[in-house]
Amino acid sequence: MGHADRPTIIAGNWKMYKTIGETVAYIHQFIPLVKDVAPLVYLAVPFTAIRAASDAAKGTNIVIGAQDVNEHAEGAFTGEISCGMLKEAGAQFVIVGHSERRQIYHESDAMVNKKLRAVYASGLQPILCVGETLQMREAGVTEFVLQTQVTHSLDGFSSGQVARTIIAYEPVWAIGTNKHATPEIAEKAHRFIREVISETWDAETAARVVIQYGGSVKPENAPKLLLEPDIDGLLVGGASLSAVTFSQIIKG
Ligand code: PGA
Repeated sequence: MGHADRPTIIAGNWKMYKTIGETVAYIHQFIPLVKDVAPLVYLAVPFTAIRAASDAAKGTNIVIGAQDVNEHAEGAFTGEISCGMLKEAGAQFVIVGHSERRQIYHESDAMVNKKLRAVYASGLQPILCVGETLQMREAGVTEFVLQTQVTHSLDGFSSGQVARTIIAYEPVWAIGTNKHATPEIAEKAHRFIREVISETWDAETAARVVIQYGGSVKPENAPKLLLEPDIDGLLVGGASLSAVTFSQIIKG
């Protein structure tokens, strides 16, 4: 099983951008731009916009999801949101362990693991983000960090669960910095992550898991990244905020 046997999945991550009105206007502009594209198109929108986005995207090839979730089904957790709530609002996937959650809100691999447990139980598809900081890369511990994040975040899950997880390799130094990883650097990390999956689970699971690259993806650098054998998709932040720019990335 190689690149061609895995789906290409290109996801946008809006972060804390766009009101409901802006979301609906975007989706209406976006639908005709991506209606015939080959990759699967995912869009992670703010919680408040999930219902409007999924209604606007109904019957199209645009898959709507969320950017984070709480690990509990319900309870006294002020400000948090559950998988059930996301699903009812129309989300089909959820990003877990984004570096902004890890860095700003101190989410650990153990926390990410609990969230993933809830996500699998709910039937939502997770996008699990991993990636090293510049300091870690310069210290030469990138592989150790990736191995730890992947195995601890996915600890205790079955091959089937791991295989339907999208893993996003997002080097923290490349996020929002206009300094994307070169295709060679990204491919090396993706291959390493696939090896870790193969060693910890099995070769078939490793061959099936979709690994996205994220970090300053733009229409100019996307096609070369996607040519690499272990880069199966992209997770796009800033450049997904414009329907036109994001569609250019998806069309390649
Ligand atoms: P960026 O963000 O494309 O703006 O670098 C990527 C991400 O955080 O997912």
